[in-house]
Amino acid sequence: MEAKTVAVYGATGHTGRFVVAELERRGLVPVAVGRDEGKLAVAGFGADVERRVAAIAEPESLDGAFSGVAAVINCAGPFLDTADAVATSALRLGIHYLDLTPEQASAQATMAHFDQAARERGVVVMPAMAFYGGLADLLVTAAATGWQSIDEARIVVALDSWQPTIGTRITGHRNTARRLIVSGGELRPIPDPPGELVLELPAPFGRQDVIELSLSEVVTITRHLQVGELHSYINQVPLRDLRDPTTPPPRIDESGRSPQIFLLEVQVSRGTEIRHGLIRGRDIYAVTAPLVCEAVERILDGSVTQSGALAPGEAFDAPAFLGALSPHELTVEIAHAMGYEPRMRGISQQAS
Ligand SMILES: NC(=O)c1ccc[n+]([C@@H]2O[C@H](COP(=O)([O-])OP(=O)(O)OC[C@H]3O[C@@H](n4cnc5c(N)ncnc54)[C@H](OP(=O)(O)O)[C@@H]3O)[C@@H](O)[C@H]2O)c1
Repeated sequence: MEAKTVAVYGATGHTGRFVVAELERRGLVPVAVGRDEGKLAVAGFGADVERRVAAIAEPESLDGAFSGVAAVINCAGPFLDTADAVATSALRLGIHYLDLTPEQASAQATMAHFDQAARERGVVVMPAMAFYGGLADLLVTAAATGWQSIDEARIVVALDSWQPTIGTRITGHRNTARRLIVSGGELRPIPDPPGELVLELPAPFGRQDVIELSLSEVVTITRHLQVGELHSYINQVPLRDLRDPTTPPPRIDESGRSPQIFLLEVQVSRGTEIRHGLIRGRDIYAVTAPLVCEAVERILDGSVTQSGALAPGEAFDAPAFLGALSPHELTVEIAHAMGYEPRMRGISQQAS
């Protein structure tokens, strides 16, 4: 097995292409895998990037496409349709598996189904290693460094706009299961209707209407942290873009990213102590490539000593991981303060 060779399934997609390029930039060797030979041919990969065709419904084609690689990064979503087949093939071959799922049900199923087999094979299975999912897990973990448990965690994503890919639109339609949050220390269905707040966020966002919307970070965080309350929010502006069928897909400018600005803010509290974490960056699709490639690089270089189904915050030294991406890919700030009220500050319930 070639320790530097990494297969990318769904390599022809918007995010898959970012991931192939990022692997090359890091000196790893990508193998671009997709279900459509024609799309692989015109995806713009360099002549030295090997291309292989494999379909979800044909396990032997997946095994063939992933043979001889050390890990597979699954970028083909909805992951409810692809994760099981790709991870099953990875486990048959005894290679690491990572994916980008924002879907809670997929992350849960992947962790539940493949943990034991991954331990037995001595490999890592890591769903949700992406902007939605792993990044919030890493920031919460970094902010809660040294704590055994968290009383309350609040995660806020703010985007100035959202030009969604086809994959995002299809995944959103497929991901209809009632979302989970944590309340009273237990996973529970998100309130219906979801909570709405008005938050004062750091510049350039300022005052924003946000709505409770939980994704795969709830699955990854609760895999390794004891949390009393865990609530995730997103501002309403990008959801309006997403709901509008005429919003175009993202366009990359000369910087190699779309102009979309994101902010990820977490607040965690324990007793009277409260800590804040803030990540800023550009383009939630583009930033997913350095996130998942940093993860695969750390797994392949032996820094991760555990095997099995692992959450990002469980597998990695979260401050070091985020620090390695800062300031080029994103910027990170973590602030500790004592003596705050036990309940989160800065939240006002929307009068509606
Ligand atoms: N968690 C996060 O923050 C995050 C970040 C980025 C992306 N994602 C997720 O990653 C997925 C891909 O996003 P994207 O932006 O790259 O979308 P995209 O540009 O539409 O690409 C989707 C890719 O998945 C492939 N694909 C989809 N269903 C497949 C199936 N059943 N079998 C084989 N291949 C399949 C597509 O192949 P064809 O071209 O042949 O159709 C294409 O290569 C989405 O589910 C998205 O939600 C998550």
